[in-house]
Amino acid sequence: MAMKTWISDLRNHVGNEVRLNGWLYNSRPSGKVQFLIVRDGTGFCQCVVEKGKIPDDLYEALEHLGQESSLSVAGIVRAEPRSPGGYELLVTDARIHQAAKDYPITPKEHGIDFLLQNRHLHLRSRRPWCIGRIRHTVIDAIRRFFNDQGFILVDTPIFTTIAGEGEQTLFEVDYFGQPLHLTQTGQLYLESAAMSFGRVYCFGPTFRAEKSKTRRHLTEFWMVEPEVAYIDLNGLLELAEGLVCSIVQRVLSDNRAELEMLGADIAGLEKVRPPFVRLTYTQAAEILTSQATQEFMKRQLSEFQAQKEALEKELAQLEEQEKKGGLKKWQQEKNARRIVEIRGDLDELETKIQNNPKHAELAASFRWGKDLGGSDETILSLMHEKPVFVTHYPKEAKAFYMKADRSNERVVENFDLLAPAGFGEIIGGSVREDDYDRLLKRIQEEGYNPQNYWWYLDLRKYGSVPHGGFGLGVERTVAWITGERHIRQCIAFPRLMDKVYL
Ligand code: 4AD
Ligand code: MG
Repeated sequence: MAMKTWISDLRNHVGNEVRLNGWLYNSRPSGKVQFLIVRDGTGFCQCVVEKGKIPDDLYEALEHLGQESSLSVAGIVRAEPRSPGGYELLVTDARIHQAAKDYPITPKEHGIDFLLQNRHLHLRSRRPWCIGRIRHTVIDAIRRFFNDQGFILVDTPIFTTIAGEGEQTLFEVDYFGQPLHLTQTGQLYLESAAMSFGRVYCFGPTFRAEKSKTRRHLTEFWMVEPEVAYIDLNGLLELAEGLVCSIVQRVLSDNRAELEMLGADIAGLEKVRPPFVRLTYTQAAEILTSQATQEFMKRQLSEFQAQKEALEKELAQLEEQEKKGGLKKWQQEKNARRIVEIRGDLDELETKIQNNPKHAELAASFRWGKDLGGSDETILSLMHEKPVFVTHYPKEAKAFYMKADRSNERVVENFDLLAPAGFGEIIGGSVREDDYDRLLKRIQEEGYNPQNYWWYLDLRKYGSVPHGGFGLGVERTVAWITGERHIRQCIAFPRLMDKVYL
């Protein structure tokens, strides 16, 4: 057979005969021609098989080949704007490696639970494929950003002896009879490493026994954490802004096709440029409790209702068409896919419509001192087109290691970054308390045993300097960029509080 190539590389082979190794994504027989959609991991390609151009028995075998069968196809490359990737193959030969039967995931409707129970196969579908590729770019962009600036990668341990982010969310493990836990953050170790290398980052899996079943929480997620010696809050905000902009730019340039297939908000992503919005927590609290926010919420509600009506109308039309029958197979499949989409969107709108008054009420009753809740973050992030920094939270709402603002002791020098369009917090960070006595006092106030923190306290005895850092959650970032509402779709094999599928 002809020379093997990748679908992503077809543009360089127009007019030549090449071979693709892949799987049958979909097929549409049409009398004397068959249209096979083949995927090879790098993309999707329409392969046109004409009767008479290949042996009859092969033609027939292809005609009956099941979805996700593995095969190689050879053919001449031709530019074809209507083909998924812009090129198609005029098939000259084919070889079936394994003929699959009754692939469980069809273009028909499947519930999300069914898909996640079949995640080992679902990964091949278009949506998870697009998201997985974007996740890859996000991670690569993060590494490049820090490496290019001279940060040193330090791998912090996964088995740890101390809590960084609150003892309620620790997973315990039995470490040869000694109770240890899985890391919630590499930060404390990273602070030690920053005093050696100056600028460091860690990037690894993170574990939180979060008893919440929201669309924002995983029990195992990936976090990148930079830590810098001699930096102040402004420096940290600039670093975070630079990181987020460079991630978004990379995805826009490397994954535009995937963003388009996902229906992501490309115009919105293009607006992600410095400077981001900056609010103090106190300003955020004032916004949440304002009359303007109540009006904003009412406008949102009527928008949701209008969207719901439009979708219901479209759904009724499609169902009507289905009932009438007489549609071609491809049209039926297209409609089936759209119906699945509409049902998903309607479910989501219904939740939003139900939550709206609750969230409006929560915002109105917000009191200075509380941490921002998920709904408060959603409201603030919906009000802005760009990411929003919220800084200077009340001390009691945040972790023990955050540095008290010396000009206003009620607040700490910290920040959260809220992604736009209601996606909420993607980064949390702070300047660290660098004074020995103050840090010891905070550890005691939290009810932690200072003996466990002896080495962390040591850092404040030997050349303590102003320093700080932040953590960016990979899955939350991917959810925002791809427009995927649920974080469980943003990692290949998600771990959730109530479910570990496979
Ligand atoms: O705000 P968090 O808890 O901050 C820290 O862990 C700091 N020690 C980081 C630092 O300063 N070095 O978590 C940081 C980010 C969040 O903004 C969010 O993106 C993500 O980690 N995150 C989660 N992602 C998915 N599921 C969860 N349960 C998450 N918890 C936090
Ligand atoms: Mg946080």
